[in-house]
Amino acid sequence: VPAVAIVVAAGSGSRLGADVPKALVELDGVPMVRRCLDALADGGVTSVVVTVPASYEARFQEALSGSPVPFRTVVGGARRQDSVRLGAEALAAGNPADAVVLVHDAARPLVPSGVVAHVSRAVAAGAGAVVPAVPVIDSIRELDDLGSRVVERSRLRAVQTPQGFRLGTLLAAHRHVEAEGIEVTDDAGAAEAIGHAVTLVPGHRDAMKITEPVDMVLAHAILAGRK
Ligand code: C5P
Repeated sequence: VPAVAIVVAAGSGSRLGADVPKALVELDGVPMVRRCLDALADGGVTSVVVTVPASYEARFQEALSGSPVPFRTVVGGARRQDSVRLGAEALAAGNPADAVVLVHDAARPLVPSGVVAHVSRAVAAGAGAVVPAVPVIDSIRELDDLGSRVVERSRLRAVQTPQGFRLGTLLAAHRHVEAEGIEVTDDAGAAEAIGHAVTLVPGHRDAMKITEPVDMVLAHAILAGRK
């Protein structure tokens, strides 16, 4: 299923301890943001908007030269949800409201193309908001005023990206949360705020978010296993 995509890459990556934005950090010599475009292209994405930190547009253009898919960069916003909204506004200029759009974290460079394609298919099949998710490995306790209590793990899912929508839905959702002052941690949350049900599809461990230095060790191990 053909789709367009927003890759959000406007975060600083301070928790990774790098001296450049996280999306520019290289894995085996290839910047994370470039690996994202490779995976999205393999999964059927035909054009991408990349949200980047202010004053880094040239660095991203360089990191993405030779991309397998046409892309453009736009400067992101203060919060992730602001970056997604700005990316969606940019896509709306050249794409119909019923275009399938995927929103992907640049911090998830090893997402399998099969996950990408699965999300697009689910949107094309009629789902309003599609989220790849995986079971939670750790036991989880929820804090409350008296201490903490166990949460039934079998009912928990960890949310990944790319998340999928129709472009008109994504745009309306993010305009709504902006206008109402609602904070959301992911785009499906914004779609839910305007009444869409969320459909879960299987995610993949390889789509883990690279956040801390130990995640780089794991990412290199995943890449070694693919060779
Ligand atoms: O901070 P966190 O890892 O949750 O960010 C998730 C993704 O959102 C990252 O790929 C980051 O670059 C992006 N982001 C963004 N604009 C912001 C904050 C985060 O595009 N203002």
